[in-house]
Amino acid sequence: MKVTKATPEAIAEAAAALRRGELVAFATETVYGLGADATKARAVAAIFAAKGRPRFNPLISHVANVAAAERLGKLTAHGRRLADAFWPGPLTLVLERQPDCPIADLATAGLITLGVRVPAHPIAQQLLAAAGVPIAAPSANPSGLVSPTTAAHVAADLGERVAMILDGGPTAVGLESTVVDVTGKSPVILRLGGVAREAIAEVIGAPIEVATGHADKPASPGMLARHYAPATRLRLNARDVRDGEALLAFGPCIPAHKGPVMNLSAAGDLTEAAANLFAALRTLDCTGATAIAAMPIPEAGLGEAINDRLRRAATLP
Ligand code: TXA
Ligand code: MG
Repeated sequence: MKVTKATPEAIAEAAAALRRGELVAFATETVYGLGADATKARAVAAIFAAKGRPRFNPLISHVANVAAAERLGKLTAHGRRLADAFWPGPLTLVLERQPDCPIADLATAGLITLGVRVPAHPIAQQLLAAAGVPIAAPSANPSGLVSPTTAAHVAADLGERVAMILDGGPTAVGLESTVVDVTGKSPVILRLGGVAREAIAEVIGAPIEVATGHADKPASPGMLARHYAPATRLRLNARDVRDGEALLAFGPCIPAHKGPVMNLSAAGDLTEAAANLFAALRTLDCTGATAIAAMPIPEAGLGEAINDRLRRAATLP
């Protein structure tokens, strides 16, 4: 079994594997990442191969701190404010590449911009320190499917493809990072995620838009319409449950149901719901239900990102 407790020895071994150009999956506070040395084109190519990911989709480079991020990309005034407020944490900034940025072109899909994140999870931080290179890491799932929030999810989906999986238990945030493009005059959210839109607006002192783009050419190349998707069909805004369906519930008042039920948060807490979302979708996907009936989630705070993921998961292929 490749799932390994993240002891100092295991971290050192994982860092050595990364430096050899191998893939290592590791815990972050958002979802598990599928990591490679971001400066090695061949290692980055192995990520795309393992995920079955479209080549045009750029990867996030993970670094240990703001200073390391600045060596890769140009921090604008807005970028600096957001970095100071949310790093380390579930925020990715899209920056213009520095002229001497060492990240492989394949990792940025040839763009002149670069996605950078400083993760907060101690395992991610220890791995970055030991590896001494920026780590390119998408979520550790096959392209288009549900992101992993436990080491067991990664082992089930990609276990054969990685040298090691550094186990950090279930992830605390449970949604991917919020991606904010700070290269223009006004920052724009390219992907809703673990930092709520309101929190970002507060730091920049102005409302912030979520870029929509087109379904086939999204503003953030990774934001294809169908994404984060279980195999079972999803029925959104369900106020009842039909025969044969499984129920993805939220809050204290849920419809009576004899079949499978997962409640994202019985207390109606959106942070708890975000942390439980992907594992609940995976569990209900394995029940043989005809569909997953998803109860409405309030469109506020992290609810906005949860609804974004549910809508994409519900889009038919
Ligand atoms: O929480 C996370 O962000 C996780 C953990 C592992 O850090 N990573 C993650 O990576 O979700 P991934 O590859 O699944 O999603 C990265 C998103 C994609 O939507 C991609 O298109 C966007 O970030 N992105 C990356 N670089 C970009 C760039 N230069 N311009 C626009 N979008 C970019
Ligand atoms: Mg992903």
